[in-house]
Amino acid sequence: MRKTLLAVLTVLSSTVATQFVSETVFRQYSLCSTDCRFVTRGRSKIHCSLQCYADSACVFWAWDSNPGLCRLCANVAEENCAEIGHAVLPGYLRTVCQNGGTLDISRWRCSCFAGFAGDVCQRRIYDCSEGFHLNYPTRVYEIQPPLATSPFSVYCRMTFGGRTYIATRTHPDLQFNRTWEEYKNGFGNVSGDYWIGLEQIYLLTNNGLDNELKIEIRNSTDFHFQQYYYYFRISDESSYYQLHFASTKPNAQPGKALGDSLSPALGCRFSTYDADHDGDDTENCALRHQSGWWFPSPCNLTKGNPLGRLGQPGMWSGNPEDAFWFTDFGNRALLHVHMWLVM
Ligand SMILES: *[C@@H]1O[C@H](CO)[C@@H](O)[C@H](O)[C@H]1NC(C)=O
Ligand SMILES: *[C@@H]1O[C@H](CO)[C@@H](O)[C@H](O)[C@H]1NC(C)=O
Ligand SMILES: *[C@@H]1O[C@H](CO)[C@@H](O)[C@H](O)[C@H]1NC(C)=O
Ligand SMILES: *[C@@H]1O[C@H](CO)[C@@H](O)[C@H](O)[C@H]1NC(C)=O
Repeated sequence: MRKTLLAVLTVLSSTVATQFVSETVFRQYSLCSTDCRFVTRGRSKIHCSLQCYADSACVFWAWDSNPGLCRLCANVAEENCAEIGHAVLPGYLRTVCQNGGTLDISRWRCSCFAGFAGDVCQRRIYDCSEGFHLNYPTRVYEIQPPLATSPFSVYCRMTFGGRTYIATRTHPDLQFNRTWEEYKNGFGNVSGDYWIGLEQIYLLTNNGLDNELKIEIRNSTDFHFQQYYYYFRISDESSYYQLHFASTKPNAQPGKALGDSLSPALGCRFSTYDADHDGDDTENCALRHQSGWWFPSPCNLTKGNPLGRLGQPGMWSGNPEDAFWFTDFGNRALLHVHMWLVM
C-alpha cells in the first residue's frame, strides 16, 4: 500500500508542472498523521484541494468539515493508522486543474481551457450552451453530453444562448439522400455542411432540460426565417428516434417568421430510403422525398422536407425530392437550412 502510494506521488509530482493529470479527480487515502504543517480555514473539499495545489510544499490534504479546516501536509504519514491509534481522516493527493486549466487563486477556482468544464476541468462541455455560459468562442468543439460515453465534434456558435448545430446546409453538394446508418452516425464536415447524427441528437436531448430546436431557412443569402420548437427531444434507436416536442412558435421579429411544418410529424419515427418507419403502407416517403426525416402517414401529409435536395434561389420546382417547407414559406425554394439546439 505504502509503496503504491509513493509511486503515485512520484508520478504526480512529475506531471504537476504540465498541469495534466489523468488520475481520478479526488483520489482518497487515509490521513492518520495529525501533525500536518499547515492548517487553514476550508469551505469545501474543492477549496482545500485548490489550496494544496497553490502551495508548492503541499503534497497531501484532508478536509475536516467540522469545524471546516483544511489540513495541508508536506508528506504522507508513513505509519499504519490502525497501529498508532489515530483517528482516520479521508485524505487526498494534491489535485491540479486538469486539461490545461489554470488556478485562479483570487476565487479558489480552476479556470478551464476552452471546451472543458467541471470543478477541476475534468470533463468536456456537455453542449454548446454550456460553452456559451463559460464565455468560450465560436468554433468546432468536442462535446460530451452526460449520456454519451465518448466525445463527438460539433460546430458551436456562441451567440443567443449557444447554438449546438445539428444540421448545416449551405451548398447543394453535400447529398442528404443517405442510409439509416449514415443518418444515425452523422455525415459531412463539422467545419462546413453536415448532419450531426440521430444518435448524437438523442444523447444531446435526453438531458431533462427544455431543449429548443431552432430551424432556420433562407430563400436567399439576405433573408432568413425561423421557427422554434420547445421541449424538443428524440427517443433512442429502438423507437426509431421518434420525434417529441411540446410547443412551437415562429420568430416574432417582423419578416422573420417561418411557419410550422413539423407538427404533422409529431410522434413520428425517423425514416430513410432503406429503413421505412413512416407507417404509410402504400409508399416509402423517404424514397419519394429522397431524404431522411420524420415523415407522417400518409406521405402526402408531409409539410416540410428540409433535408431534400437544395435548389437555386427562386421558386420550388414542385418535385417531391427537392427541399420544401410549405407552411408560410410557401412555394419559395430553400437555399440554406440550419438546425440547432439551445439548452
Ligand atoms: C437516392 O437514393 C435512392 C436509393 O439508393 C436512389 O434510388 C435515388 O436515385 C437517389 N437519389 C438521388 C438524387 O441520388
Ligand atoms: C472540412 O471543411 C473545412 C472548411 O471548409 C476544410 O478546411 C477541411 O479540409 C474539411 N475537412 C474534411 C475532412 O473534408
Ligand atoms: C393522400 O393520400 C391518400 C392515400 O394515401 C389519399 O386517400 C388522399 O386523398 C391524399 N390526400 C391528398 C390531399 O392528396
Ligand atoms: C426571399 O424572400 C423575401 C421575403 O419574402 C423576398 O422579398 C425575396 O424576393 C425572396 N428572394 C428570393 C430569391 O426568392
